[in-house]
Amino acid sequence: MASETISTEAWVLPSTARRPQQAELIRETYTFPDINATEVLVRPLYGCLEGNMLHALQRDPIDICHERQEDAVVVGNAGVVVVQRVGSAVTSVREGDTCIVFGNGIWDEQGYPIKIMGYDAPGTMGVLAKSMKLHERQLIGIPAGTSYSLQQWAGFSLRYVSAWANWRVAYECWQSQMRGVPPAETIVCGWGGGVSFAQLALAKRHGCQVMMVCSHPERLELLRQEGIDAIDRTNCNDDDFEETMLAEIAARTDHKGVSIFIDNLGTPVHRITLKSLARQGVMTTCGWKLGMRSHVARAIECLNRHLHVHTHFARYQEALDAVRFAEEQAWMPPHPERVWNWAEIPAMFRDYAAGKISSYFPIFAINPPPPSEVRE
Ligand SMILES: NC(=O)c1ccc[n+]([C@@H]2O[C@H](COP(=O)([O-])OP(=O)(O)OC[C@H]3O[C@@H](n4cnc5c(N)ncnc54)[C@H](OP(=O)(O)O)[C@@H]3O)[C@@H](O)[C@H]2O)c1
Repeated sequence: MASETISTEAWVLPSTARRPQQAELIRETYTFPDINATEVLVRPLYGCLEGNMLHALQRDPIDICHERQEDAVVVGNAGVVVVQRVGSAVTSVREGDTCIVFGNGIWDEQGYPIKIMGYDAPGTMGVLAKSMKLHERQLIGIPAGTSYSLQQWAGFSLRYVSAWANWRVAYECWQSQMRGVPPAETIVCGWGGGVSFAQLALAKRHGCQVMMVCSHPERLELLRQEGIDAIDRTNCNDDDFEETMLAEIAARTDHKGVSIFIDNLGTPVHRITLKSLARQGVMTTCGWKLGMRSHVARAIECLNRHLHVHTHFARYQEALDAVRFAEEQAWMPPHPERVWNWAEIPAMFRDYAAGKISSYFPIFAINPPPPSEVRE
């Protein structure tokens, strides 16, 4: 007979009632109710640091402990876990399965996420715990005999699934007005970030021309390896940033403009995004890393027939489709050169916030499997 609660070691985000000033994770024992019929108990192996985890820590744009009316929240909605025990009604996974976390916490009647697991969905927990539970629909099995490492799948779990779902809508919007234009004449550009990188790698696999803004030598090298044309933003001065960036993009698009622009950064770059678009171009986003408000000159957007796409993560079937495509088409983040250990997690957050981490997919170990079981 299962006990009524489970206690585990975790890095938790405390409420402001407990820590009024500090935005820091604390390491403590976290207790949660045992699984119900549709839930699964898992052992997280690896996680990937995501923008929403930093947003949670910075309590911006929302204080999730306050929103959820909880004293502490375990964040972390990207990672790889092993199933330990399943509820009596669970059919999609079995004990021993290795899965990616799929962070759709509360979904609408079409399956699209309203709230995110391990973030704003009340009562849910993330992977920053040695043991955790989730709903069976928050797990997607990693293909048996996969060619990729568990760390790569951890990086895949949120950014790649978000990219898949956003791309589907953005590309259909582009095609709705540009049906006869083949992918080879479709130019896709993105600002920096792991989601944009994933989405451009996907657009490339669909045959589109792809380019990405970037500032770091390691990231420039990664873009080169992936066949994504890099625009090095360090070549642009702050004083004339907009002008030089627009000229650079115009030159690279033969002055036609960008067909689909992925902008998950927001406020400070949004004007450049819109000005860079071709006629009938699509501005597409699922994020607002540098600011969520944008000014839009509606008349200009109408006259140019620009479409604006906003999506939020993905539905279950989209994640299944993304995983299948990834395994078949080698659409994967790179295997990480560094993996942060359990004790280093707060330091990793600090470095990420300070822009000191070069990887688009910073991976941390929670319960790493013994070396003999890890594929290099
Ligand atoms: N709703 C969803 O489904 C969903 C899913 C995933 C992520 N998101 C959100 O999407 C946003 C982006 O996330 P991400 O994980 O893709 O990003 P990320 O990996 O955190 O990277 C952000 C990138 O921004 C670039 N950057 C930083 N400052 C800049 C500046 N001043 N001008 C131009 N570029 C700058 C950097 O690239 P360079 O320095 O190389 O240019 C950096 O790599 C976040 O807000 C995240 O929370 C939303």
